[in-house]
Amino acid sequence: MRAVQIVEESGPESALELVQVPEPGPSDTLVGGEGVVIDVHAAGVSFPELLQSRGQYQLRPPLPFIPGSEVSGVVRSAPAGAQVKAGERVAGFCGLGGFAETAVAPEFFTFALSPQLDFAQGAGLVLNYHTAYFALAMRGRLKQDETVLVHGAAGGVGTAVLQVARGLGAHTIAVVSDTRKAEVAKEAGAEQVVLLKEGWKDEVKQLSGGGVDVVLDPVGGERFTDSLRALRENGRLVVVGFTGGSIPEVRVNRLLLNNTEVVGAGWGAYVMSKPELNREVGAAVGRMVDEGVVRPIVGQSFPLERAGEALRAIEERRATGKVVLEVRPD
Ligand SMILES: NC(=O)c1ccc[n+]([C@@H]2O[C@H](COP(=O)([O-])OP(=O)(O)OC[C@H]3O[C@@H](n4cnc5c(N)ncnc54)[C@H](OP(=O)(O)O)[C@@H]3O)[C@@H](O)[C@H]2O)c1
Repeated sequence: MRAVQIVEESGPESALELVQVPEPGPSDTLVGGEGVVIDVHAAGVSFPELLQSRGQYQLRPPLPFIPGSEVSGVVRSAPAGAQVKAGERVAGFCGLGGFAETAVAPEFFTFALSPQLDFAQGAGLVLNYHTAYFALAMRGRLKQDETVLVHGAAGGVGTAVLQVARGLGAHTIAVVSDTRKAEVAKEAGAEQVVLLKEGWKDEVKQLSGGGVDVVLDPVGGERFTDSLRALRENGRLVVVGFTGGSIPEVRVNRLLLNNTEVVGAGWGAYVMSKPELNREVGAAVGRMVDEGVVRPIVGQSFPLERAGEALRAIEERRATGKVVLEVRPD
């Protein structure tokens, strides 16, 4: 089969190579046991693959390896008792191996793909939307009618969070770095959009009538302290990632003085050993797809052999929505 491998950890320009390799077998899953073999139509591209191309991600397999944590496509085979069957359109989280014509995902990480979504949208469904639901509902304890501030709101996680927040009945304020991204955040359903510039925190406080209930932060870096200041009493700041490059530190007296919390949300590590929880999150996201609230926004798509360009778009902060590789174009 055709696949893209990371052959050296030298960054998106030179780390990736298009290769011919044997197809994986059903047992080639990250977690062991028989998985679902998927003929891949589209593969999702995310921040971790960019980090992997430089050897900077926590999951660092021996070289060469096929990156790609999530795919959509058609089931070739599934273990007995699986939720999906051969011939069915699915979205699956495989962890690794997605940048290839065939990939294997654990059964509990494979979900039927609604006819309302195409394969490119399916390739953006599991990682970002499951993270969004986990971070907002389970870690951030978001309630109906509360207000959420979403950083990096035009990105993959950000657009997903905007839609899932709406699905949970909450109000949203998107923070983005430019006007093009503001349009993407609006397309994803943001009720209010604030540009990241001097005074953004005051604008958020004014729009929210004194502060937000939840901040969802995939960016980190310097904005962190102002994010804490943007919370109202009982507010929760949910830490999701650090695309801004630096890991912020918090002076905990701020939490005491304002009665706020900082909460971590690491989806993959938490759900990996909890098949039932995955099904619960999958069902919740599936309901939001049926209601028309969840519609993954595909920003750019590239053919498989141009995976390096896809990683560069993310690296250079140009990406919006989900970046996707077309593996078997429709
Ligand atoms: N915790 C979890 O379970 C979990 C799950 C999935 C992903 N993540 C993490 O969440 C983060 C976001 O992922 P994503 O797929 O949404 O990424 P993305 O689509 O590239 O979006 C990231 C956003 O970060 C902002 N940003 C600020 N500084 C940046 C910089 N120096 N370079 C690039 N972007 C920068 C950009 O928004 P502005 O330009 O508007 O500021 C960009 O839109 C990543 O760190 C990823 O690893 C965590």
